[in-house]
Order: sequence, then structure tokens, then C-alpha cells
Amino acid sequence: MTAPHTAPPGYRDAPLTDWHPDRPVDFAEAEEFLRACYAELPKLGPVEPRLAVVREQIAALGTYTHTHAELVHGARMAWRNASRCIGRVYWRSLTVLDRRQHRVPDQIFDDLVSHLHMATGEGHNRGKLRAVISIFGQAVPGRPVTRLWNDQLIRYAGYRGDDGMTGDPQYEQFTSAVTKLGWTGKGSAFDLLPIVLQTGDGEPRLYELPESAVLEVPLAHPEFGWFAELGLRWHAVPAIANLRLSIGGVDYPLAPFSGWYMGTEIGARNLADAHRYNQIPVVAARLGLDTSSESTLWRDRALVELNRAVLWSFERAGVRVTDHHSESRLFLTHVERERRAGRDTPADWTWIVPPISGGLTPVFHRYYTEADQRPNFYLDRSAQQLSLTGLPQVTVPAQRTSPERRTPADPAAAVCPITGRSGPMPDPVPELLPADQDFSPDVDPSPAYADPEATVPIPAGPAPAPITAEPVPARKRGLRRLLG
Ligand code: ARG
Repeated sequence: MTAPHTAPPGYRDAPLTDWHPDRPVDFAEAEEFLRACYAELPKLGPVEPRLAVVREQIAALGTYTHTHAELVHGARMAWRNASRCIGRVYWRSLTVLDRRQHRVPDQIFDDLVSHLHMATGEGHNRGKLRAVISIFGQAVPGRPVTRLWNDQLIRYAGYRGDDGMTGDPQYEQFTSAVTKLGWTGKGSAFDLLPIVLQTGDGEPRLYELPESAVLEVPLAHPEFGWFAELGLRWHAVPAIANLRLSIGGVDYPLAPFSGWYMGTEIGARNLADAHRYNQIPVVAARLGLDTSSESTLWRDRALVELNRAVLWSFERAGVRVTDHHSESRLFLTHVERERRAGRDTPADWTWIVPPISGGLTPVFHRYYTEADQRPNFYLDRSAQQLSLTGLPQVTVPAQRTSPERRTPADPAAAVCPITGRSGPMPDPVPELLPADQDFSPDVDPSPAYADPEATVPIPAGPAPAPITAEPVPARKRGLRRLLG
């Protein structure tokens, strides 16, 4: 299959962040966070004595350490501030795994596996997903950082062959990078990529996720028996892994978080986008739709059936998933609750409105305030580059204050553990974006109506091949392969 392979540019650009681990903490930001945190959690007691300690620590060391309670609440606040996340009503339920003492790659990998077990649910609870974040060591001036290359803990490889793409085109470059490091994929459409960890300038180390840590759902349709023959599947847990968590001026460069899917993320983006699995033409052909003209709305009809298949299959498998109608209503409940608590809910319309049936959901019919409220999650240029290509980090000179603090509302970041779509808008510098990373907004609002020429058409391209129905081979249970 030769899927068109470039993502359309975003409706607007949001700058990626530049960040350097040696940058000292800004006391003003620490104070702002601590005051908010202690005001929200009266059981923590008065904030003044705590501020005095933090001021001294920053003066002596350039940073300070969060208490466990501050860390937990800070992570929850970061989710609450993630303006692209529709699932924030659940922000208080985030389970925080405090892994700050763990800095060695082997240990970090074990923690990531535990994270996935906990997030997936075990035994009778397998499939009852819950929102989890693992927070590893904070950045300390002068100390090397361990980076995770992957943008999500669970993703599928993409291979370009003579007859087109197999797998997820978004990960073609990442797949070649890990292949150069010694990894060999099976060549199927849904090969799990290895985890890559790298400390400082050391060698990257590759780890294979054990089968028990990765729950996948084979897709079938409630009415169309042929759907299962397409061989489509998706992983149960979305686990965003390359955003920096920033709490009170302290940065946690490794803080993967996960939740559960809103069906449209899979059915209307991952499997549907022309630059991803591009399955709309395949589903339309199997449905026997008249594709001779756009006005038959064959794309829309195929899209709905693909999305029904996703939701139905997850529900049938007992894997937690949500639909865009329910989640939109819950989001507005959240906005209202927050208003009653005296807080604004910054939100990015272009990410909150679902990629199908936007106007059928209540989130469409209003606007939102946009602000970069902290704590929050940020995508750094260097992290994006690693997760796209495995290329080394861009070095940014140390600065005394947080430059992104002064940028206008909503820089690149915010994603949520639940149902928000991940990642920032496309990087304005095209050469840093050799592959698409699902950074396009899910809708292109008003400009599309105002000026049809302003939207970038997705090239039609030849029809994609169906994914082969070959079952994904069983991975060896508990196998952890250390290649690096
Ligand atoms: N949209 C991303 C994906 O398809 C996941 C982003 C986070 N989503 C979530 N429901 N927590 O994999």
C-alpha cells in the first residue's frame, strides 16, 4: 500500500519548547505552585514555612525537591491544565507512581512494565484501565538525564517496502533508527516497537516489552463478518511518554502517563488518517460503497463503521474505552465543576472537538479560554526529534529563567492521560518533522469555511491494501531482550 505519507500542516502553529536540564528553578514559579497546592489541600498546613525551605534549597542547589503530596497533586494539576485533553473530569483519580529514586535504564524499564500492568489491570481486572503516571527523577543541574526515545510506550513499527508501507507510517523513521541499533521486527502491520532508553551521551539501550504488559484488541464489527478479516487491531493503553512534566519550576523529563482511549482516536485517526493506516478506502470497498463521487459521502459512511467496530470490539473484549458523545458531555461537566471551584479550564477547541460528528457534540458549540497554566506537560524540541528519528538532542544553552513562560497561551504541550489527543501542532521547521507524529489538529475549524483554498488537501493517492489478516505472532512471555 502506498499511503500518502505527509501530514497536513496544522491550522495554527504552537511552538515546541526548548529546555535545558541545567537551568535553575525559578523561585517565583515554585512559589506560585506551592501557594496553589497548599490552598487546594488544606491538610498540608501553612505554606509559609515550606516556602522558606524551598527558597533556601533553590539558592543552594539551583533546585528543590517536592514532597510526595506535592508531587501527586502537582501531577494531577498538570493533567487538569492540559488544554488539549477532553478527559479531564477524571483528573483527581490519577494514580501517581513516585519513581524519583530510579535512574538506571534497567530499573526504569522494569518500572515502565509495572506501570503498564497497573494501567491495564491484572487478573479479573485486566481491561479495567486506570489513569497512571510514573514520575522519574527530576532534572538536577549538572546531572545527566535519562531519556526515553519513544513518544508512547506502546506503538507499532512502520516499514517501507517496494510495494508500499506495512504498519504505522508515523513510525517509519523510528523503526529504521531502532533497526540500525540491532532490533528486528517481524514485518507485520502491528509489530510492537521496542522501548529505547538513553542516559546522557551513553549508548541507547533497547528493551522488548513482555507480552503480559501489552493488551491488544483485535477489531471486528457488530454486523459485518468480513471486518475481522481486515486483520486490524489496536493496543488498549495509550501511554504518552515524551512530554516533560513541569511542576512548580521543577522539571521531570521522564514522566510517562496513560489513560484509556476515546474510540475516535483509533477509528478516526490512527486507522483512518491517510498518513497513518489509511483504512477508509479499504472499509468502503468492503462495504460496496459508491466511491465515484465525494458527494456519496462514502468516506463518512466508512468512517462511522470503522468507529463502530473500534467501540464494539473494545467493549466486547472488556477493555475500557469511551465514545466522543459521552466524553464531550463529561468535559462540560468538568468545566462547570471547575468554574464552581473558582478555576478556569483552559481548552484548545481544535483538539477538544472530536474528529467525527463535531457539531453533534456539545463541546463544538462554544469557545474556551486558552492559557498556559502550570503545572503542565510540555513537548520539547529535542524530545520530539528523538521520538521521530532517534537523532541526538538539540543542545540549547542554559538560561536562568523559563523562556516558554513568556510565550502566549498554550504552547506545544498539553496532553492528557484520558482521551485527549497527544502531541503538539506540527513543528514550523519542516526538516525537524521528517515523519508525521499525529500532531495535526483533529479538525480544521472556521478557516476551512472562510477560505477553502486555505486548507491543505490530502492527496488522494492509490487505494491502500487491506492489512493482511496474518495473526500477530505470539511474543515470548516475559521475554526481555536487551540489545544495547
Ligand atoms: N491519540 C493518541 C493515540 O492515538 C493518544 C493520546 C492520549 N489519549 C488518551 N486517550 N489518553 O494513541
